Amino acid sequence: MNPRGAIGDVEPGIHGGTDSHESSYLGVDESKIIDFSASVSPYGPSPKVIEAIRAIDLSAYPDPGAPGLTADIAATVSTELGVSIGPDQVISTAGSVELLSLVASAYLEPGRRLLTLDPHFGEYHPPAQTMGAGVEAYPLSHDTNTGLFSLNEEEFIEWIRPRLPAVVLLNDPHNPTGLSFSESLIEGVLDLDGEVLVVVDEAYRDFTASPKNLRSQLASGRLILMRSLTKVHAMAGLRLGYGVSSPEIIQCLRTVQPPWTVSSVAQAAGRAALADTDWSRGNINRLREEKEFLVAGLKSAGQKVLPSSANFFLLDFSEEQGQAGALRQYLLSNRVRVRSCESFGLSDHIRISPRGRVDNERLLELVSSYSVDRNR
Ligand SMILES: Cc1ncc(COP(=O)(O)O)c(C=O)c1O
Repeated sequence: MNPRGAIGDVEPGIHGGTDSHESSYLGVDESKIIDFSASVSPYGPSPKVIEAIRAIDLSAYPDPGAPGLTADIAATVSTELGVSIGPDQVISTAGSVELLSLVASAYLEPGRRLLTLDPHFGEYHPPAQTMGAGVEAYPLSHDTNTGLFSLNEEEFIEWIRPRLPAVVLLNDPHNPTGLSFSESLIEGVLDLDGEVLVVVDEAYRDFTASPKNLRSQLASGRLILMRSLTKVHAMAGLRLGYGVSSPEIIQCLRTVQPPWTVSSVAQAAGRAALADTDWSRGNINRLREEKEFLVAGLKSAGQKVLPSSANFFLLDFSEEQGQAGALRQYLLSNRVRVRSCESFGLSDHIRISPRGRVDNERLLELVSSYSVDRNR
């Protein structure tokens, strides 16, 4: 039996984090690798999360729709945005990536189009392609002298206009560049057409110094905020995220969501993680200091570090072609993984997500020894 025709067009996503094929190829023990490639808090989940998980009865089915967790998320988002968000405006998902599939199942089909920016997170296109929808991406500008990436927001809106998309998917702060877009960009896209659905992926929002408050754009009834609980709360293996939107859109997304995708373990962990704000706030602040430490250290080691409003940042090797890959291999052979940006189409860049001080010092030590060896 052949699969649907659209399946042949699906491009598989490529990610950071664990890659046991690569480590076994290099003869490096995966469990001993210090991972700077995935932007997940290095401090681990709250001890209260571990306690909550232990109390779960694995033999029982999860509560469908995760009502307790969904109500807690609604309360948290209400406080963050300063506006009342009801549980009927929230959907809990198995990692924020599940939301991409739900949006595609509910709103995309052949003849409809998803638009996004290039480069973009590898999971943006596959769900749309699976549904047979068209996908297109608008390239960010890249100044080869300064190395800076930027988006001309007015030109982007004019590019979108004739394409009449069903869904526009933006990422703020943007992975992998760390760019942050203006609120007026989101308004501009919403204003284009009364039908377009705008999804803003805020996976890295919690790490930013001044997160956006999109409550007025949310009132349009056509915006979906896509949020992750895996990164700041260090639960990437557990898979937990959520979407916030109008009750009508949330209802559609719930209709296409398979039952029990958010396990009872994930529901309990999410509730405990949201309640332990001291743990998450403290770790966010520590990580911000670590980012400054690492950026300063890399700059004094002669690396070109690009500015970023996210917790990760890019090293730019455009002036030394081949060096991004060479440094990455050197680090990996010394049990340190950084994110290759080849899957983003940026083969001269490396993305780094800071970790705790000891690990950051190790990375700096290796980068300095690599530079000394090269200059010999
Ligand atoms: C931009 C972006 N969005 C979403 C995700 C997925 O996050 P989650 O773990 O919540 O599925 C990632 C993961 O790397 C990401 O980089």
